[in-house]
Amino acid sequence: MTSRTPMSGADTVRSPAARTPTPADVAAMVKARGGITIERHLTDAQRAAALAADVRRGLTAVPKELPPTWFYDAAGSMLFGKITELPEYYQTRAERAILSERAPEVVAELAAVLAGGVDTFIELGSGISDKTRLLLAALAGTGRLRRFIPFDVDAEALGRAGVAARAAHPGLAVHAVVGDFRQHLGLLPAPRTSQQATAGDRAATGTLVAFLGGTIGNLRPPERTELLSALRDRVGPREQGGPRSGPGEHPEPGAALLLGTDLLKDPARLVAAYDDSAGVTAAFNRNLLTVLNRELGGDFDLRGFAHVAAWDPENRWIEMRLRSVRPQKAYLAALDLTVSFEEGEEVRTEISAKFDRPAVERDLAAAGWRLHRWWTDPNEDFALSLALAL
Ligand code: SAH
Ligand code: TRP
Repeated sequence: MTSRTPMSGADTVRSPAARTPTPADVAAMVKARGGITIERHLTDAQRAAALAADVRRGLTAVPKELPPTWFYDAAGSMLFGKITELPEYYQTRAERAILSERAPEVVAELAAVLAGGVDTFIELGSGISDKTRLLLAALAGTGRLRRFIPFDVDAEALGRAGVAARAAHPGLAVHAVVGDFRQHLGLLPAPRTSQQATAGDRAATGTLVAFLGGTIGNLRPPERTELLSALRDRVGPREQGGPRSGPGEHPEPGAALLLGTDLLKDPARLVAAYDDSAGVTAAFNRNLLTVLNRELGGDFDLRGFAHVAAWDPENRWIEMRLRSVRPQKAYLAALDLTVSFEEGEEVRTEISAKFDRPAVERDLAAAGWRLHRWWTDPNEDFALSLALAL
């Protein structure tokens, strides 16, 4: 599968069009709290409008589909935290193992390839940034890290991530951004130019972006390319060709991406990771209906929907679905929409793509990134890729 795989009609339900707030909205939403700035690109009203548009589109499509972004309310983030501790869910442990072993090596590589090292560390889909501590500590050890920018749709998780990062690194500027990484990457704070970096901080202008947890696999191939391209355009050198510096010239700020991807393996292990025996993933999946009930005035009966996890060998992804166990209707007051379900009808709620090295390399290359280093855990369950912006 390449990042250009054409999608069948059933696979083309997309996120809604631009819903970017005006600069005045953003300014009103920038709040400083104990050394942590929180910048909101999704106000509550915008979030509600985006959710409503996604749900109307998804539940009137054939087959029905709901986008995974809305899993992560407070209960959803709590349940995801529980998933990361399940015996069947190896991903978080594998990625943490790679990070604990390799963080110093990652940082040494970055010092070698980014002029002056990393001054800005951005994390996409950061959640509570738990594994990220290992990277933050290694980066802070270089003495060049100036700011940490966690980016997520879940404002509450960002607050917790910010407080923990400040507690561990009191001098660090924490600038959290609430936004949708499918829409708002262009609004990330700009990389510092070398002219802005003074000799005192040794002209560090490099940016590291971490995108961990295999979250990139929750996007469809075209959305992946869109995200990686938008990111490259925002943080990479202004002209393709990589960081350059002639004699007497300031080097261009360089950028690197640390990408976590789950790897192809025995489908039985993959399915178990998304259908655990304790039923936590099932509760996480159904929580999406609770979000719709609360935020859109819905009347979904959670007992009417079964959790399904299935391996799709052609697309090389796990699909999560909610299957209607009987014929039923649900009404969403905020949309004035009645949705009918047949017995056995399924709503797709999530995909989680699995990769091998060539697949990661292709996705990166299609978006202006070059794979530079590749690390896995000893069992080769999960990979961390270090890529450079071209
Ligand atoms: N990085 C953490 C969390 C992964 S869970 C880890 O590796 O354990 C996925 C995270 O991505 C959640 O915190 C969720 O809120 C966030 N997320 C999901 N869709 C998003 C979107 N469209 N924009 C921004 N963040 C999103
Ligand atoms: N990024 C995670 C993954 O794809 C998210 C995740 C884990 C998830 N378990 C889930 C999403 C269950 C929806 C349902 O593995």
